[in-house]
Amino acid sequence: MLTKLLHRIFYKTLQCKILQNICRQGKSCLEFSKLSNCSKLHSGCSVYQLHPPKLFAASESLLQTPDTMEDKVDVTEVSEGLAKVMLPSSVFYNPVQEYNRDLTVAIISEFSSESFQNLNQRKTENGAAANNETSDQAIPLESGKFYENGISIFEGLAASGLRSVRFGLEIPGVREIIANDFDKNAVSFIERNIQKNGVHHIVKARHGDAAMGMYEHRNENDRFDVIDLDPYGSPTIFLDAALQAVKDGGLLCVTCTDAAVLCGNAPEKCNANYGSVSLRSKFCHEMGVRIILQCLDSHANRYSRYIVPLISLSVDFYFRVFVRVYTGQKQVKHSSTKRAMIFECVGCGAYMIQPMAEALPTKGEGNFKFVPGSGPVAQQLCQHCHHKHRMGGPIWSAPIHDKEFVRRVINRVQAGSQTFHTADRIVGMLSVVLEELPDVPMYYVLDAVCGVLHCTPPNMKVFRSALLNGGYRVSLSHAAKNSYKTDAPPGFIWDVMRAWVKNNPVSEKRLTPGSAAKNILEQQQTHEVSFTEHADANPRSREKGMLRWQTNPEPYWGPKARAKRGHNEDLVAKQLANQGKTKKYKEDIFDSNGKKLNIDQTSEEKVKM
Ligand SMILES: C[S@@+](CC[C@H](N)C(=O)[O-])C[C@H]1O[C@@H](n2cnc3c(N)ncnc32)[C@H](O)[C@@H]1O
Ligand SMILES: [Zn+2]
Repeated sequence: MLTKLLHRIFYKTLQCKILQNICRQGKSCLEFSKLSNCSKLHSGCSVYQLHPPKLFAASESLLQTPDTMEDKVDVTEVSEGLAKVMLPSSVFYNPVQEYNRDLTVAIISEFSSESFQNLNQRKTENGAAANNETSDQAIPLESGKFYENGISIFEGLAASGLRSVRFGLEIPGVREIIANDFDKNAVSFIERNIQKNGVHHIVKARHGDAAMGMYEHRNENDRFDVIDLDPYGSPTIFLDAALQAVKDGGLLCVTCTDAAVLCGNAPEKCNANYGSVSLRSKFCHEMGVRIILQCLDSHANRYSRYIVPLISLSVDFYFRVFVRVYTGQKQVKHSSTKRAMIFECVGCGAYMIQPMAEALPTKGEGNFKFVPGSGPVAQQLCQHCHHKHRMGGPIWSAPIHDKEFVRRVINRVQAGSQTFHTADRIVGMLSVVLEELPDVPMYYVLDAVCGVLHCTPPNMKVFRSALLNGGYRVSLSHAAKNSYKTDAPPGFIWDVMRAWVKNNPVSEKRLTPGSAAKNILEQQQTHEVSFTEHADANPRSREKGMLRWQTNPEPYWGPKARAKRGHNEDLVAKQLANQGKTKKYKEDIFDSNGKKLNIDQTSEEKVKM
């Protein structure tokens, strides 16, 4: 009787919530579904991490091999790029990361082509051409083919091997790819997927710890051309090995899905993992990228090595950086000048970059003396709103992209010799990257600036025009939609806003004594401000209508939980029972203002972009 009553109440409320996509109450949902055998409720549950609806609910083909039969595991066949792979529910797969994989294939392909060009150039310089040796350059590089002089790739955390199989099928000029995982079950699927896709001549499965796999290759002659790390959460435990096992001039590709830690939700954890204190600020997405880069560089420095970032991105719920690693003690000295702290005002959000060190030229070309950075760049209290500053960092303060390389990747994707499902977004996002001011770390978010003053925001072109008319540069950041990177000082930005509120007044009620708004608006405007539309007010990528930010790729997108063996229902029950008992940083997603969102809010926000 009671069960029936509960069923009626829960069924109605939960179904309604499910339909609105805000079901965060899977616990009652599942418990009730158990009680009442109500599978309808259960299958509608939108606890996305536990029920990726496409993948587990409706397997296209149910393959039962001896291993999988043992566990009664559903195996789905998934096509991505040129690969078709078998995926059991016990091995990790996140369809939304197709963008990550497409982008990586494009970038490594470009890297590989360049490596061959350099090789040929060296051969020519050494007189190989004179000896009638065939040049590889004469023959276009092909994918899926073994090249004696080709590149070697180590994928440390390969799961099903989908990424490595795609590398084998799609990247030209490859000698060897090692797809490694420490999960035996995953490795058995890597092996099957290698066979299924006919890439056994270049892709090899390895069973073992990723760090050990890389340490085995740290001798100069055994190093990899490319290392790809795509772990659960933070990659930091693999970095010491990775920075030693990649060749001089080699490429390191790293994913971090612990966005909440890097975006300031747990600054102490960020310091423990990355050696840097993150800030939960408006610019947290770029700060995350820069914390990762400084962490990679400091690991490299221990071995007389340094990094040169090629492309460094904040994407959806994760970060993905591509850096080249070089050896050279002289350049390592400059690393201290590429690190900085950030002071951010807690009242108005104005921020200042505090360099850690400076390089002063001394006698002789290319010689420098290195001295500690002078400062502090910030006063005790903010000169605009009289509130305190907080300090974060260190961050990487040098450029985060190599624009020449970015251009070549865009050309490659546009040329269409490789076809990517997410090509439009790669081109769109990298076009914004090309527009980014390279020498201006971080950005302001206009809604947040206006939020400080409680005023209505000017239109994007109006605000950009005011900065440009003032003689300053301005660009978007790929990391946030409503972002403004500018070399205009905070004093000028507040003058622009003072001029704006003259015609768009703020309610007196909002100007409480001591508030940032009152303190800022009480000060006189000291710069001329013109809102006349400037010729460069509209960013080119916007003018061309490019796909620059993520639209909602599927109903329940986001980071996925670790894959676990065992029956899926049990896994769901266990995870649901634990929900809310521990802090799950990797589930947190932030909007461009640094505000924590739940997954459904995120979907809606992202659609609006
Ligand atoms: C996020 S998944 C990798 C996804 C994959 N790169 C892709 O694109 O689909 C992480 C994988 O790392 C594996 N793993 C975790 N720690 C490891 C370690 N120390 N050594 C090797 N593999 C590890 C897990 O078994 C899991 O399969
Ligand atoms: Zn302030």
